[in-house]
Amino acid sequence: MPRSTPALSLPLRTPRLVLRDFVADDLAAVRAYANDDQVLEHVLHEPRDEPELREHLDRVLAAQGNRPRRAWELAVEVARTGRVIGTCDLALTGTRTLDADLGYMLARRHWGRGYATELATALVDAAFRQLRVARVQAIVDVRNERSRRVLDNAGLHWEGLLRRHAHAKGRWWDCHLYSLRRADWQARASRLAAAG
Ligand SMILES: CC(C)(COP(=O)(O)OP(=O)(O)OC[C@H]1O[C@@H](n2cnc3c(N)ncnc32)[C@H](O)[C@@H]1OP(=O)(O)O)[C@@H](O)C(=O)NCCC(=O)NCCS
Repeated sequence: MPRSTPALSLPLRTPRLVLRDFVADDLAAVRAYANDDQVLEHVLHEPRDEPELREHLDRVLAAQGNRPRRAWELAVEVARTGRVIGTCDLALTGTRTLDADLGYMLARRHWGRGYATELATALVDAAFRQLRVARVQAIVDVRNERSRRVLDNAGLHWEGLLRRHAHAKGRWWDCHLYSLRRADWQARASRLAAAG
């Protein structure tokens, strides 16, 4: 791990979204998406009841003060309305190189509008440009086709199948590992720029 850990400059802005630190007032919005079984179907661990939700948000708020900061669990806000519709996260990992794990979750009524693709692309860019990571990765339940599309759209490549990656909610989870290396991200960015 490099000695000094770069910081992420917040908020991150995409054409339609603002990715920002949570505040205590976001609890109601978090409750709205975190209480939906369909949203949680492919998520390994999540806070469920009210005390767990509060405790989770408190932990997230407290972690914002960590220096160096190694994890960013962010609110996803629609720029036009100011409404929080979900969460996304980047967490630094890696021992020999600095890598980042990527995740996201949106309220169901906002699915299918390209928001996850937009935010995942922004997080990948921020991880390489600002955090200077060598690699971004994501782990996704084998049954989560929507999320696999999002990762494809954001430029990540399928790297392998993680059999029995985790045991949660009374079952073993087989997961796909997706990743993007810095060199491939740079090549993709150049291709996209050349295509206008
Ligand atoms: C995964 C999730 C974030 C996607 O959000 P979203 O804003 O709807 O995603 P996007 O609109 O950017 O893209 C969705 C893609 O899935 C595709 N899709 C939609 N329904 C699908 C289905 N039933 N099967 C396969 N693909 C599907 C869309 O066509 C789109 O792909 P395309 O752009 O190539 O056409 C959202 O469904 C969610 O919050 N799920 C619950 C939490 C979760 O699973 N998080 C990921 C954990 S790894």
